[in-house]
Amino acid sequence: MDAIELIKQDHTKIQELFNKFLETESDMTQEQLFQEIETGLNAHAEMEEHVLYPELTPFAQEKVDEALQEHAEVKKLLEELLDADLNEDTFESQFSKLMEDVTRHVEEEESQDGILEVARQKFDQAKLSEMAVDMQNIQQRRRRDLAA
Ligand SMILES: [Fe+2]
Ligand SMILES: [Fe+2]
Repeated sequence: MDAIELIKQDHTKIQELFNKFLETESDMTQEQLFQEIETGLNAHAEMEEHVLYPELTPFAQEKVDEALQEHAEVKKLLEELLDADLNEDTFESQFSKLMEDVTRHVEEEESQDGILEVARQKFDQAKLSEMAVDMQNIQQRRRRDLAA
């Protein structure tokens, strides 16, 4: 596993959670899925912000700044959604906005001149594997915190 594969896998996982959320009719399942989405997005942001982005800053400062700003917007939306009621109309529109923002951000990260391509060009396999280990540690810690 290298850092780029790990990030892409996580992107796919979040997209799958979005789809499940849209497909389910049950409030209880939606509530649970939203919790998973919230934890998943925060863990993902944390591993990018603590491992990937700092390493990329010397090579792609502007892209990193832009990505950080997009993360901040997503976090703000998540906080608003946490406070909202699942059955309110505002929840639905805010949740749609969350999905749009995240999808656009992921597309940017995975695009041909995106942040992951910079990582592919600048880091060798050893470095990418090392970063993956650091990121997996962050993910596991987040999951443990959640279970506690
Ligand atoms: Fe990101
Ligand atoms: Fe990402």
